[in-house]
Amino acid sequence: MKRIKASAPAKVILLGEHFVVHGEPAIVLAINKRATVTVEMRNDQKIFIESKNIGVSGFFVNDEFHPQRGGERAREKLKPICAIVKEAIRKYNPGFGVNINIESSIPIGAGLGSSAAVSVASASAIFSIFNPKVSKDAIFKVAFDAEKIVHETPSGVDPAVSTYGGILWYCRSKPIRRLKINVDLPLVIGNTGKERSTGKLVAKVNELRRRYPLIVGKIIRAGGEIVKRSIRALREGDLETLGELMNINHELLRALGVSCRELEELIYAARKAGALGAKLTGAGGGGCMIALAHPEKIIDVAYAIKEAGGEVLVTEKTDEGIIIEK
Ligand code: PMV
Repeated sequence: MKRIKASAPAKVILLGEHFVVHGEPAIVLAINKRATVTVEMRNDQKIFIESKNIGVSGFFVNDEFHPQRGGERAREKLKPICAIVKEAIRKYNPGFGVNINIESSIPIGAGLGSSAAVSVASASAIFSIFNPKVSKDAIFKVAFDAEKIVHETPSGVDPAVSTYGGILWYCRSKPIRRLKINVDLPLVIGNTGKERSTGKLVAKVNELRRRYPLIVGKIIRAGGEIVKRSIRALREGDLETLGELMNINHELLRALGVSCRELEELIYAARKAGALGAKLTGAGGGGCMIALAHPEKIIDVAYAIKEAGGEVLVTEKTDEGIIIEK
């Protein structure tokens, strides 16, 4: 029985979350926490999907779902992966079903792009079993479509960085640019442990923009300016400027109402301990924050985040997007 294993990384958004949904650029980097998906052929036409981490599994047979673990919740969680399989079956008409096993070391609902990493790893493993020469661009497109099932109007930044890895400049409907940065970005990630829904937070910003189009429009454009300015700081390795820009970015996100007390506490603690900049990362409302610090301050900052109640995640940037292991 043919079997393929693929993995894809999580990410942190350095600058530009939310603004990116409204057409401004963002800067995002892949980190070395990964989701791994194994796909194997079945003798029948059934689709079986299992995710042990979130405790759900079940069979999709024709248009019906038969949960094995997790009931209705299983259907909701597994629907995007099933959509990816159906797209592959529509395209290649293979005449057989698949077993899909999902494993991930990425915290869920924390702003680190766990759902996108799972979608990208799934699309990669599923499409590769039918067509070993499938391109990364095709995988990105399929995973992005699956993300639209999870959060109505995603920008695509999460599946992009999970697919290609590295540090990306991402702007909706523009070619993705890989940034060549020669400096280390000493970052600490702090998780508030508060789960939240990206879709709801994106909808909240949309609603605020509908009510105050001129004001919110200007905040969003200021977010875009921060990203533009940061490119020079990144190229020059100017961590002080980058930190300052991260702080301004965070205050704009606060103005949009997507921070929360738990995030503020970790951000404040990090800045007080000597971080050059600290901000929420991802959709906000809980989840993770990031802090940039000179290497000699990293331990102090990490300790302060922990003391303030955060879980410190030690991770590094990775250049590897999708990896296929046969
Ligand atoms: O998936 P999260 O929670 O890291 O958030 C993604 C970033 C947003 O800009 C808020 C949404 C998007 O689709 O770009």
